[in-house]
Amino acid sequence: MQLGRNLKVNSNDVTFLIGGKSKKDVLLTALFSEFGEVLSTTEDGSMGEKGFVTDHSVFRSDNLPFDRIYSCGPDAMMKAVGRIAKQNEIDCEVSLENMMACGFGACLCCITETVEGNKRVCKEGPVFNVNYLKW
Ligand code: FES
Repeated sequence: MQLGRNLKVNSNDVTFLIGGKSKKDVLLTALFSEFGEVLSTTEDGSMGEKGFVTDHSVFRSDNLPFDRIYSCGPDAMMKAVGRIAKQNEIDCEVSLENMMACGFGACLCCITETVEGNKRVCKEGPVFNVNYLKW
């Protein structure tokens, strides 16, 4: 939400794409709409377009209307969004949610593989550019 607010304050056009299993999982759309267009998908089709966020028709355009993509959520979804971004040469950052035990860089259980070797999500992340990750 804060990222969207900051982007809007800096005069960017913002589109939020929110997905969930069903309508009850698609939260805060009214709040998000204060800062930009809100698109949604649900797996059961109860709200927005049916399917995953990566199935949304906005991604079917030959010329995607995005300068930059920011993604958070399940790992598989972020990887799919990252693939779309890479294929379309759109800069993309993802916020990883790897399992964390210590949260301050000691246990190494949150490691993710990057082009510069393993990095701790809790210390070097959690936000990474997809081009930096070995996905
Ligand atoms: S959670 Fe322990 S190193 Fe990241």
